[in-house]
This record gives sequence, C-alpha cells and structure tokens, in this order.
Amino acid sequence: MCGIVGYIGKRDAYPVLVKGLKRLEYRGYDSAGIALINENGDLNVYKTKGKVSDLEAFVEKKDVSGTIGIAHTRWATHGEPCQLNAHPICSSSENLALIHNGIIENYAVLKERLQRKGYTFKTSTDTEVLVQLIEYMQVSNKLDLLTAVQLALHEVIGAYAIAVLDKRNPDMVIAARKSSPLVVGIGENEFFLGSDASPIIEFTDQMVYLEDGDIAVIRRDVELEVVDLDNVKMNPEVQTIEMNLGQLEKGGYPHFMLKEIFEQPDCINDCMRGRINVEGTNVALSAVIDHKDKLLNAKRFIIVACGTSWHAGLIGKQLIETFCRIPVEVEYASEFRYRNPVIYEDDVVIAISQSGETADTLAAVELAKSKGAFIYGICNAVGSSIARSTHTGSYIHVGPEIGVASTKAFSGQVTVLTMLALTLAKEKQAIGEEKFLDLVQELILIPAKMKQVLDKNQKIAELARIFTYAHNFIYLGRGYNYPVALEGALKLKEISYIHAEGYPAAEMKHGPIALVDAEMPVVVLATRNGMYEKVVSNIQEIKARKGKVIAIVTEGDEEIARIADDCIELPQTVECLEPLIATIPLQLLAYYIAVCKGKDVDQPRNLAKSVTVE
Ligand code: G6P
Repeated sequence: MCGIVGYIGKRDAYPVLVKGLKRLEYRGYDSAGIALINENGDLNVYKTKGKVSDLEAFVEKKDVSGTIGIAHTRWATHGEPCQLNAHPICSSSENLALIHNGIIENYAVLKERLQRKGYTFKTSTDTEVLVQLIEYMQVSNKLDLLTAVQLALHEVIGAYAIAVLDKRNPDMVIAARKSSPLVVGIGENEFFLGSDASPIIEFTDQMVYLEDGDIAVIRRDVELEVVDLDNVKMNPEVQTIEMNLGQLEKGGYPHFMLKEIFEQPDCINDCMRGRINVEGTNVALSAVIDHKDKLLNAKRFIIVACGTSWHAGLIGKQLIETFCRIPVEVEYASEFRYRNPVIYEDDVVIAISQSGETADTLAAVELAKSKGAFIYGICNAVGSSIARSTHTGSYIHVGPEIGVASTKAFSGQVTVLTMLALTLAKEKQAIGEEKFLDLVQELILIPAKMKQVLDKNQKIAELARIFTYAHNFIYLGRGYNYPVALEGALKLKEISYIHAEGYPAAEMKHGPIALVDAEMPVVVLATRNGMYEKVVSNIQEIKARKGKVIAIVTEGDEEIARIADDCIELPQTVECLEPLIATIPLQLLAYYIAVCKGKDVDQPRNLAKSVTVE
C-alpha cells in the first residue's frame, strides 16, 4: 500500500515523479505529495488530499524545479487522509522530508520518548515519529544522515519502505526497506526509486530489488551503495526487468478494469505458453516436475491467500483433491499466521498472490517455512517478495494488473492451479491417460471460449442498467461454481459499493433466503454440470419468493430460460474449467453496474491493490 517514487540525476525530477505517482496510484490514492530540492538548496514540499491530479493542480505556478526529489501516494493507516497527514512528512527543523510505506508498530512508545525530549508533532501519523527520530539521532549524536537512519531503524518495530531527503545534502537520497517492497532503478548518471518497477521501467530496465534490512545510499554521480542497518556492505544484484509499457496504459479502454477483463483470453494463452506442448497433448509445470518428490510425498497441501487469490485457492482445492487425491486446506493468510497452525515438514504450502507483496500472505509463508514446510508460490509480480521467499513456484504471466479489483490475475491463478493439478495427477498416475488428454485439450480451448463470453459485453451492460437500483445482491453456485459466486459478489462490493453475498446455493436455505423478496437480485451459476438439477431447484425456491434471478447457464438451456428473469449463456466446457469462463460475466456485470452508478471503477474507495500492511 502507498506508492513511493524517487529520482536523482540530471533531469527535472518533477515530471518523472508525477508520472511515476500516476503509475503507482493503484497502491493508494487518498492523498499525494512531493518533495524537491531546488538549485538554491530549498526543500519544497507540496501535498494534497485526493489524487495525483489534485496534486498537479495544487503545484501549478509553484516552484517544482530540482533534479532530486521523492513523492508519495497514500493509503491511510495512521491518521485520516488529509493534507497534513499526507507524505512527505518533514522533521521539526524542516531539514528532512520522509515518505513511508508500511506501519511503525511501536510508534506510540517512540513518540512519547521524543515528546519527553521536547519534540512536538503536527500530524497523527506514525511516519512523523520516524522522521523526528531520525532527526533526533542526527542532532543529538551529530551524525550524518545514513548513520542516523540506521540508528533510528534499529529502534523501529514494524514494516517500512522509506525514502529520506536532507536539504543540507542535495546530492543524496537514503532509502530502506523491511517487509515493504522497494526497487532502485539504475540509469546513466541517474537513479530512480519505486515501490515497484512500474514507475521506473520507462527510464531503465536495470533494477535492484532491495532485501529486508537493506539501506540504499543513492548519490548523484556515484555508484549505488547498499548497506545493512549495521553498515555492512551488501552486494546488490542488478536485474534486467522486462515489462511492456503498453501494459501500464489503458490502451483505448475507459478503465484498466475493462481492459484487463478483455485481456483475459490472451493472458491465459500467455500463462499456458511453454507449459502445454504444441500438440496439445501434455501439460507440465516445471516447478512441479523439478520438485515432484516433495509434492508427491506431501500428506497435505495448505493454500494460503487473501481476497480474490483466496477464491482462486478454493478452486485449486477442488482441482487438486479431485485429480491428485491429496487433501487440501484453504486458509485466509491473516487467520493462518496468528492461529499457531499445525504444520508438518511434509506439508506443502501454496501461497497465491497477484502482487506477491500481501503482508499477511508473506507472513504466512515465513511461518510455514520456519516450521519446515515446502513452499510453492503462485504470483504475478515477477521478483516480488513472496515469489522470492518461496522454495519454488509458477508465475501466472498475465502482465501487470492495475485495476484494484482483480480480474485477469484470478483467471491466471486458476489456470496455473489447473496445470499444477494436472501435472501432479499425471506424475502420481492418479488420472487416466484419456481423461488427462481430454482436459488438456479442453484447457487449450478456454481462451476462445472466453472470447465468446466477452462478445456478450453489450447484453451484460444493458442488464447492469436494470439492476443499478439494487442495494443488495446474492450470488449462488455449487461445486466449482461456489468460489465463482464468492468472487462475483466480491467484485460487485468492491467497485459498486452494493452489498453482495456469495453462498453455496444449498446453504441459501439456512439463512440468506430470508432476504429474498421482489427487490432482491440473485445471480445463480446454473451451468449444465453434475449439480444442474439441484441448482434448478434452488432457482425455483428463489422464484417462489419472487426474487429476481439472473442465471449464468450453458448455451441452449431452455429449461432455466423459462424460469429465470434473465440468462447469460456460456459455451459448454468441462465442469472443472467452468470457473474460467463463468467468472467473466460476473466481472462485466460488476463493472457496468459500477459505471452506471458513476463510481471510480479503477480506484474504489478505501481499497488498495497491494495490501502491504496487515
Ligand atoms: C487486495 C486487492 C485484491 C486482492 C487481495 C490479495 O485486497 O484489492 O484484489 O485479491 O488484496 O492480493 P494479492 O496481491 O495477494 O493477490
């Protein structure tokens, strides 16, 4: 959460920083700010409540000159989103400006200590405590900035990615990380800083991902130096990062979310490329093959994830249990990490995370690792913290996902989980040759079937208009479609702010049916699969209470067409692959309802794309 960007070099820093902030707005967007040191050595700090565009309007006609600067877009943790609490935050002397991503857990104790020493505080942020602590270290011990930062960070408990400017030293930025990502981009006689690679990639593909405990000393015209809190020199690995700039733009779509929904057929092809052979007869995830002994000997798999990734995990459970006959538990990472869970050395923990930075998922990984479990990561962001802390894993390769509501990452996660289950089932000889072949061949057809669903875009947009009035929605599904119902409800909540519940269809009778009346839209996943007849009965139960049924059906279904209020048809596929196409109309429905309600689809209130605080 929160976006960090920094620059030091020969160019004007302001345009670089503002462009970077815009790329990072998906990480938080309740306030934004910038600090620049100009030629005269003045430290100019500008900040506003609201988005980066508000910041741009605010700085118009102000001095934004300077070739060194740091900037921040915020997702508030401590202190309400307002101009005062926005970053950068200055020290009392106004010599230091600091931006921070994360949470200083012991800020109250540190604050009290500084207050006793005469420090006063203007904001209610934990960040101000950190910048004051650095200043206190500098002044009381007469230290240079780096040593003061090191001493201050020794006292801090919590998570942080920070960047600090000292106006008395206009040729240096100090940056540090612990549990919050930070990347240094290396250009020619210039350096960039970002909380991920997206604000940097336009300028250089040479990057250093800082490790926990690293402090980057970024100086003008001097080679990058990385040290730890005790000033031991580190050997940072410079990586060449591949990222297509076009993936960071909307490419003609009104919103990133719509673009990402429409990208799904191509993303799934990218995800399968090189993993399914050209003849379409075999699927092999290299991580599974390389570690097959570990995986085949596992008594149990535990999937840990949050949000949409957790929904993908529920589908993964069904796939792995069905085809590999290995028991799978699916856990919210935030619950798992604090429950003192039973973890055995022969457990395999699968961590699913689009961003690879979700604090709870990362902590769950570390916990499971410390108990000796084997960790398999399924991430999108290459080089992310979770990807790096696992023993092995498979990237989903769907490209950067910018819209806060996850869409294509979900499809990529389900696709990787499908390939994982199939690869493992084959290695374990738990699946017949014919069944395996059928599934691989059907998987290859999924992108084309996704396109057929996307062709219904207009119809779904019209349907959305009808249901914009609703204050509540219920989503029902069974089997593989139950997690799809959860995901459909989550999408609607996230971007339209309509209350929505996903339920296993049969559970409806145990509570939610009490809510059903003529005002209540109920989205039912009712494809022609093993549970079809049961779901038809569930639809009858809703209609008997005058609920409005929007049914997601297999094409040509006349039976449900007669009883449902509206139907969206899907092409036929095998039951275990249905989530890959059935989720799409629910994504579109949520999208168009949010658009009709005039909501900010890509940046819904209170949410952030990458939840790096617990
Ligand atoms: C946030 C995002 C969700 C995402 C969840 C888990 O809540 O808004 O879209 O599903 O975090 O994120 P991860 O990056 O770990 O998949």
